[in-house]
Amino acid sequence: MTKSKEIIKESYASALKNAKTETSKESCCSKPKDEKSSGESTPKLSLKPVQFTPSFGCIIDLPKKAGLKEGDIVVDLGSGPGHDLIRAAEIIGSKGKAIGIDMTPEMIQNANNEIEHKGLSNAEARLGEIENIPVEDNFADVVISNCVINLTANKSVVFKEAFRILKPGGRLVDADVIAEHELPQSLQDDNKSWCSCIGGALTEEGYSKAMNAAGFVDIKIDIDHSRHTEWDGEKIRMFSGIISAVKPV
Ligand SMILES: C[S@@+](CC[C@H](N)C(=O)[O-])C[C@H]1O[C@@H](n2cnc3c(N)ncnc32)[C@H](O)[C@@H]1O
Repeated sequence: MTKSKEIIKESYASALKNAKTETSKESCCSKPKDEKSSGESTPKLSLKPVQFTPSFGCIIDLPKKAGLKEGDIVVDLGSGPGHDLIRAAEIIGSKGKAIGIDMTPEMIQNANNEIEHKGLSNAEARLGEIENIPVEDNFADVVISNCVINLTANKSVVFKEAFRILKPGGRLVDADVIAEHELPQSLQDDNKSWCSCIGGALTEEGYSKAMNAAGFVDIKIDIDHSRHTEWDGEKIRMFSGIISAVKPV
């Protein structure tokens, strides 16, 4: 595992801990607090029901927006605390299966606790990296991901892995951060901007090229221009959007 992955894991373990103790309402798309303010004085992580854990995604209710259907097999890349995973499991019902993948053990523990709390037998969170997804080939009808792929250094590998695990005709629906222009190197090199879903964001063209190279077709990018973020005086606007694509039959 590279150093930057360790930093991302620590950042999200700490964000979850803060969220569980209700000391922070920040989403992934805002600057993480520095280590000092994320604090030794915060109470120990208590695994409470899901309503106490905010989502860290950039799109609300991605499973519904992804058009999941009853009986679908769904894999959620970077499932975090488990919101989308649980919502997907509820939509697809007992004939379907929802598997979440995340590299942060605290996120996996939280998601599996919430699945157990809800009594869902069709959902599971697995520890793993989305560059090497612990799922067999041609498995899923739909792969979803909410504000995660921007955090990865090698997006081509992630898209190839998503392609591998999809059934022919299956769909990838990625809610992500999209940069208006290519980011300056200083921003790409900044750990805080990466952990805040900024530094690793691609442009519309960048996502499209990487998905196309992985074999996807029918790539559509739906950007929400009504909300945007800028980074520390850098004049680069960042939007959220849904990027969808199909694995050809
Ligand atoms: C911004 S949060 C989004 C979580 C979730 N999708 C949501 O909507 O709440 C990013 C999550 O992706 C996970 N993550 C980042 N890079 C990853 C990678 N390469 N492999 C697996 N998980 C990763 C982090 O551990 C974190 O839980």
